[in-house]
Amino acid sequence: MNNAKNSIAPTILVIFGATGDLIARKIAPALFYLYKAGKLPTMFRVVGVARRELTDEMFREHLRTSFTKYIGDRDKDSDPTEFLTSFVYHQGLLDVDECYISLAEHLENIDEEWGVCTNKLFYLAVPPELYKGIFEHLATSGLTVPCGGEGGWIPLEVARARSAPLPLTGWTRVLVEKPFGSDLKTAVELDELLGTLFKETQIYRIDHYLAKEMIQNVLSFRFANNLFEDNWNSKHIERIDIRFFETLGVEERGAFYDSVGALVDVGQNHVLQMLALVTMERPHSYDAQAIREERARVLKHLVDVTENDASKKTFRAQYNGYRTIKGVDPDSITETYFKVMTSLNLPRWEGIPVMFEGGKRMGEVKKEIVITFKHPEPCLCPTNSEEHYKNKVVIGLEPQEGITIQFWSKRPGLDFEMEERTFDFVLRKDKRGVQYVEEYEKLLLDCIAGEQMLFVSTDEVKATWSFIDPIVKTWKKGTDIVPIHTYVPDSNTIVEEAKIIEDNTNHSAVR
Ligand code: BG6
Repeated sequence: MNNAKNSIAPTILVIFGATGDLIARKIAPALFYLYKAGKLPTMFRVVGVARRELTDEMFREHLRTSFTKYIGDRDKDSDPTEFLTSFVYHQGLLDVDECYISLAEHLENIDEEWGVCTNKLFYLAVPPELYKGIFEHLATSGLTVPCGGEGGWIPLEVARARSAPLPLTGWTRVLVEKPFGSDLKTAVELDELLGTLFKETQIYRIDHYLAKEMIQNVLSFRFANNLFEDNWNSKHIERIDIRFFETLGVEERGAFYDSVGALVDVGQNHVLQMLALVTMERPHSYDAQAIREERARVLKHLVDVTENDASKKTFRAQYNGYRTIKGVDPDSITETYFKVMTSLNLPRWEGIPVMFEGGKRMGEVKKEIVITFKHPEPCLCPTNSEEHYKNKVVIGLEPQEGITIQFWSKRPGLDFEMEERTFDFVLRKDKRGVQYVEEYEKLLLDCIAGEQMLFVSTDEVKATWSFIDPIVKTWKKGTDIVPIHTYVPDSNTIVEEAKIIEDNTNHSAVR
């Protein structure tokens, strides 16, 4: 793992879709925090590409306005004027050759101005249907070719001036947002196209969950400690549950959301990455490649839910009122809640139920991984009930970031009575309240530093889609095989209803 991520090499970040919401909400605020922390290269420029006719000044003003809206409270008073001088604008239509030809000239001019062959980072902050066209244009205009070849150079005097070792510059990298494709076929096609233009080491596929503090902590909890790892298997663990409940609704994203649904929106990526980290084998080393390989390995062993199994192993629902949202089909059968039961076809996890569920407009925010341990044998069990005492490790992302270990203890007193107690680890009390920003700081920094651990590999993309695709295909066939239930928004009643698939699959119910 790369712990020293300060990169001094001159870098240009090119953002396609520069006037959209993504840059205002995630990228610009994240860059601002990196700038304030002194983590950005001294020679750093952002070239925003979009169709609107804007001057550099107008572009900066546009960003300044969004800053006040999206920046965290503690920086409300910070003046971004100096920071924004690094932003310039490039007008162009993303589906037209000229845009890329003039962009190449624009970038060359910056290189000449600075007298170096700079690093180029291309960020696609555009709807996924535009990805293919942009990649192809990047290739035909020669923009994918790194000016520094494999290594590149920077004038010695520049490096010496900063008393730093001679860095390698001149690389080209591309940052891609999810969703990667809309199903297995399109994901593979997109990946193959990417693979012809870039090496895997140049491709940075974002799943911002990988950059979450608590998700990174899953690795440290498991592998920096030796408390649980020996028992982290089917001999000792009874089941794994992952919950992804949000109180937020579909908000302004009706048309997009209706075309994907909850399972693809968060299941295919965030939830499966949570599962991968909690179930992967110990990597042979802690470098990005080894960790990504282990994540992919476990995801490849998810047991498919076939059309025949779908009614027993999957459950979906939609909240009342969803169909009236702008952009949503009035007859939509898109799910806003999902639940899936599966398992992992690996010796370590043989026969262990894996459940994951998630939904919008739920009664509470709850994002967590729950590991339920089997009760001990012979069991110090309650004498007058069927119930057994079981331990749980709860890795929580929201509402509280931390790890809770649930265990049983003798209640003080004359009788030998047990009561449930917890060991609680709270990660921090002062989490920044701005959605995405903390994660994007790490993602941008790692991408500039060439550290791929927090990014999704091509194998992970294929494995997650291979698992999700058959379920989505079955669901899309209509409501005969798997009905779509409804629920009252801002409630959790659907969670109770969905327990029916646990009975179907004979998996022991959650207590
Ligand atoms: C996004 C989904 O990827 O993740 C959103 O598209 C979801 O629908 C969001 O709300 C959740 O991210 P976070 O960081 O708020 O948990």
